[in-house]
Amino acid sequence: MKIISSTQQVPEVCDVPKHVAIIMDGNGRWATKRHLPRTAGHAKGVQTVRNSIKYFGELGTRYLTLFAFSSENWRRPREEVNLLMRLFVQALEQEVDELKKRGVRLRVIGDISRFEPKLQAMIRAAEQNTAHNDTFHLTIAANYGGRWDILHAIEQMLLDNPSLVKNPGSIDERALSPYLSMAWAPEPDLFIRTGGEQRISNFLIWQLAYTELYFTEKFWPEFDRADMAHAVDWYRHRERRFGRTSAQTPAETEKVT
Ligand code: IPE
Ligand code: IPE
Ligand code: MG
Repeated sequence: MKIISSTQQVPEVCDVPKHVAIIMDGNGRWATKRHLPRTAGHAKGVQTVRNSIKYFGELGTRYLTLFAFSSENWRRPREEVNLLMRLFVQALEQEVDELKKRGVRLRVIGDISRFEPKLQAMIRAAEQNTAHNDTFHLTIAANYGGRWDILHAIEQMLLDNPSLVKNPGSIDERALSPYLSMAWAPEPDLFIRTGGEQRISNFLIWQLAYTELYFTEKFWPEFDRADMAHAVDWYRHRERRFGRTSAQTPAETEKVT
């Protein structure tokens, strides 16, 4: 697939979002409302992860990117961070074979060097194990931050092209974007955040430039298929102008399906 930058070219708009990016928020509040420990919300949230992979896979979405742990989530109580890491290990142990069979390619984006060596090894193994798959691309953002992503890309770009330091004016999107962590995927068409907050929380700040942003009050553990369908339906009714006027934008009927 040829990757198109939304700021360099107007991308083709399809009825089915090619790439959906989700901030899975509200696990803690879901649990607290039920007088359960916050960690119960995280455990329950894993089921919604399974459901969302299934739902968007069936819909025809090719790329699903889930924010599992932000670079700022280390600020949480140690027990909660530990539980989240344990859930991550458990999910890798339990799910990877099934994902592999179903044609899912799994990738993790973020600075994984801060994780325990065992978890790092499991992540690399899972990525290698599914590297030949192309039906569905599942990406987990773990110890990910949008600012980290951009800084890391700049560092890698300069390491590869040291001469750019003397010629900074030649640095453009084309030079930088191959080094961003999702360079291989189209930019997200639809962003979903559950849990009621209307913010990006340092998720894919570069890649979300022209993404449609959908927010819902539903907590992640209770976000079901009907809610997913509602988000997709909302997306279908957006007029994606990419800077153009309404008159220049193809009508609904002309949309590529
Ligand atoms: C999202 O749910 C999961 C992670 C950030 C890991 P939260 O844990 O942020 O739940 P709330 O927002 O406190 O309800
Ligand atoms: C964003 O949720 C990160 C993840 C879902 C992994 P947070 O709950 O950490 O975000 P803030 O702190 O409310 O912005
Ligand atoms: Mg939260």
